[in-house]
Amino acid sequence: MIYLDSAATSFQKPQAVLKAAEKALKTASSPGRGAYPAAMRASAFMLEARETAASLFRFPDPERVVLTMNATHALNMAIQALAEEGCRAVVSGFEHNAVIRPLHACKAQIRVAGKRLFDDDGLLDDFAKALPGAKLAVCTHVSNAFGYVLPIREISALCERNGVPLILDASQSAGVLDLDCSDLNAAFVAMPGHKSLLGIPGSGLLLCSAETKPLLFGGSGTDSIAREMPPYLPDRLEAGTQNAPAAAALAAGIRFITAYGREKIEIHEKQLCRHMTELLAKRREIEVFASSEQNQSGVLSFRVHGHSCEEIAERLGGQGICVRSGLHCAPLAHESAGTLESGTVRMSFSPFNTHAEIEKSAAELIKII
Ligand code: ALA
Repeated sequence: MIYLDSAATSFQKPQAVLKAAEKALKTASSPGRGAYPAAMRASAFMLEARETAASLFRFPDPERVVLTMNATHALNMAIQALAEEGCRAVVSGFEHNAVIRPLHACKAQIRVAGKRLFDDDGLLDDFAKALPGAKLAVCTHVSNAFGYVLPIREISALCERNGVPLILDASQSAGVLDLDCSDLNAAFVAMPGHKSLLGIPGSGLLLCSAETKPLLFGGSGTDSIAREMPPYLPDRLEAGTQNAPAAAALAAGIRFITAYGREKIEIHEKQLCRHMTELLAKRREIEVFASSEQNQSGVLSFRVHGHSCEEIAERLGGQGICVRSGLHCAPLAHESAGTLESGTVRMSFSPFNTHAEIEKSAAELIKII
């Protein structure tokens, strides 16, 4: 099997991640719920996840690193904290439904900034025009459908200048691109644990620099006499029994990235993407969505003239090549790229893919065509 769907979830996990999850399942009970060794171990796994993440993202306070079920959960919490009915929310033209649907549910007026693929200048112009008077802005670091790396430093500076809190969706960048929270003006940064951070499904993170609002209410193991959720983090946002095995796996994933080298992963994935682009662009019937600048990471979308994207993905799947077709839960990104009608076939790369796999997959695709 050749796995080229790491933008959905990373599938090949380091041994240390699997072992950490197993160890936690065998030795840890419920975090924050007891002073006996199994409960204490569970709390220690949670703390380890917070501390390794805070260190990787240069985030000052591990206690404000909240563990979530996934990035969607984290984004819902962040949006809930900032949005209110009728408020203006500025988003990039590349947001996922994990952003658009919660904003729509809050009845926010959504203003879209930047509707051209890989066009940083247009995006920044649009943000500059739309931000005055906005209540919040939400921006993805990397488009999950096209790998477009958005200029988040400039966007964050524009938000700061306009006094607009920014929520950063780091779903496709965390663990791959440099994400230094110490000089980024973001109210919240949301990310999954199971994608490039190499953790297991059921894990995500919300890095909270702004005031928070609970999304779920329930036991926190602290202040049990109060009817309200505790005012302090992480307890305020972590209601109910927490997923200590996922936290243990996430900490192990982040340790793997740090030891292996985050930058090495970034360079490798970008090289794989460029290699695949070169091979596919040779064929007239393949339309490849690739940037001529440096603003694309290891995610590549394409369409094949005369074939539906679903058919191509299915045929590749039949040859053991795993890709995702359709709208990738990001219709707005496809609207911006002009691919809303057809969707695209998406290939996304991981540190474990090789150049031999790129050649084999491209050759299989050409055979199918
Ligand atoms: N958001 C994930 C993807 O892009 C699931 O496939």
